[in-house]
Amino acid sequence: MNKIKIAIDGPASSGKSTVAKLIAKELGYTYLDTGAMYRCATLMVLENGWQENDLDRILKGLDQYPIRFERGQDENQRVFLNNVDVTKRIRENDVTNNVSWVSAFPEVRAKLVEQQQQIAAQGGIIMDGRDIGTVVLPDAELKIFLIASVEERAERRYKENLAKGIPTDLETLKEEIAARDYKDSTREASPLKKADDAIEFDTTGVSISEVVQFILEKAKQILDSESSI
Ligand code: DC
Repeated sequence: MNKIKIAIDGPASSGKSTVAKLIAKELGYTYLDTGAMYRCATLMVLENGWQENDLDRILKGLDQYPIRFERGQDENQRVFLNNVDVTKRIRENDVTNNVSWVSAFPEVRAKLVEQQQQIAAQGGIIMDGRDIGTVVLPDAELKIFLIASVEERAERRYKENLAKGIPTDLETLKEEIAARDYKDSTREASPLKKADDAIEFDTTGVSISEVVQFILEKAKQILDSESSI
């Protein structure tokens, strides 16, 4: 059976990565968390003390410090920056609160998009991010745009952070999520935007398994129609 490409976009904490991982497992596809790549770029910037006028250094750094994914012993994906496991570190507040300006540079995006497209070229891919359906995989057979209210997204991230031992205040989280949405959707380079041919799904009050079922059904419809041609 042929394998398809699935693009999942949406704002912060809309459930993209949770559902994408489950779908990847079900279909036996590769899952790529593109947000983790922008977070790695941001961690590199912070650790080197680079600022917004250090674009040249940032671009050289991206060539120098490879970003790599590996499956850990617990089957969960781990993220490495320059061969250091940064899976947990890239979720901390300083990275989260600086990622929007680092990811707004078109030159940074061009480098990471190239890597993302190379990974996708192997086929059988599900990728989540902000510009997957519009820029990274414009030819993806299935494009989903997940949305949810700011309140619900803040509560989800709050619970995730607590479980990971990251100290968080719910009201601050709401403000930060709204601010990140605004920056991600109003930047000039590849803003967060629903592709014209994407299916929009509001996950407010919807369980993870229902979202997964919905997307799997759409994927199976496409796979069935392709195999009958
Ligand atoms: O999905 P996330 O919250 O981990 O993403 C972190 C940031 O990275 C997000 O605020 C915007 C940026 N990002 C992006 O610009 N393009 C992507 N494809 C994925 C993430």
